[in-house]
Amino acid sequence: MDLLLRDKVALVTGAGSGIGRTTALMLAEEGVRIGCADLFKERAEETVEMIRARGGPAPEEAKAAQPRGEGRKAKGISGETTAIASVCDVTNYGQVAQAVADTLVAFGRLDILVNSAGVSAGGLFMETEPESWSLEIGINLVGTMNCCHAAAPHMITKGYGKIVNIASDAGRVGEKRLSVYGASKGGVLGFTKCLALELARYKINVNVVSPGVVKSPMTSFLTEDLEKEWAKFYPLRRLGVPEDVANMIVFLCSDRTSWMTGQTVSIDGGFSRI
Ligand SMILES: NC(=O)c1ccc[n+]([C@@H]2O[C@H](COP(=O)([O-])OP(=O)(O)OC[C@H]3O[C@@H](n4cnc5c(N)ncnc54)[C@H](O)[C@@H]3O)[C@@H](O)[C@H]2O)c1
Repeated sequence: MDLLLRDKVALVTGAGSGIGRTTALMLAEEGVRIGCADLFKERAEETVEMIRARGGPAPEEAKAAQPRGEGRKAKGISGETTAIASVCDVTNYGQVAQAVADTLVAFGRLDILVNSAGVSAGGLFMETEPESWSLEIGINLVGTMNCCHAAAPHMITKGYGKIVNIASDAGRVGEKRLSVYGASKGGVLGFTKCLALELARYKINVNVVSPGVVKSPMTSFLTEDLEKEWAKFYPLRRLGVPEDVANMIVFLCSDRTSWMTGQTVSIDGGFSRI
């Protein structure tokens, strides 16, 4: 199936690692030009290099979609640019607005936003200190809200857009030792449904994926033994890999899902079954 994504422009947060990076690479394979945003410059740049090394969209296609004008010259972006890196802390609205602006300057428009930036601290709730809660809530929930707020106006103007947020089974069905994280992701689930209602009139689809445990730098604490133990809780008898989630994100970024909005899609080897 052709996902009809060629020539679209996406901003992916958390693009320097795990699910965000894999999503950026897969979108690039579909011919999408990407703003890769991450808190860490070197991670975002590494993803850009990976996209360029894999070819990205053909240069003439990229060139055809380039905007004319001052901004492009000032940034020194060539006609062959298929991805750019943006350093951006999603908790900082000014930096988020700059990442959106960088993508617009480089590629002329913004069709897709994938909010993959996230952190997970873990620990029994009663052993956490109230001062520590704002980290996960700030990055996972408010960070997602910041990005949607900064990106959506450019989609509203065009009457077109796809937003994909990332929640978690911890927010959907609950998981021990992830109360604060689960609260942040539960917030993302509710936020997604409400925003979908508000943006539907502009033909902007807003959906959320809810992964189970995925092997990524975020879960680098997993030993082989722990992985085997946890896999027993999953009907499909394995933990996830970033590609499992990125496949669905890319699908949700496409017009093949144009009659879907406000939906939560679990990708979790059958763990939650809702
Ligand atoms: N890995 C899992 O088991 C799992 C399960 C469910 C949901 N998720 C969610 O999926 C998303 C991606 O997770 P992952 O496994 O790829 O994690 P990861 O740690 O591999 O990648 C997260 C990326 O987000 C970036 N980031 C962190 N804070 C940031 C900030 N303030 N501003 C900008 N970027 C920031 C990090 O630098 C990193 O590159 C997260 O939202 C996570 O909560 C992950």
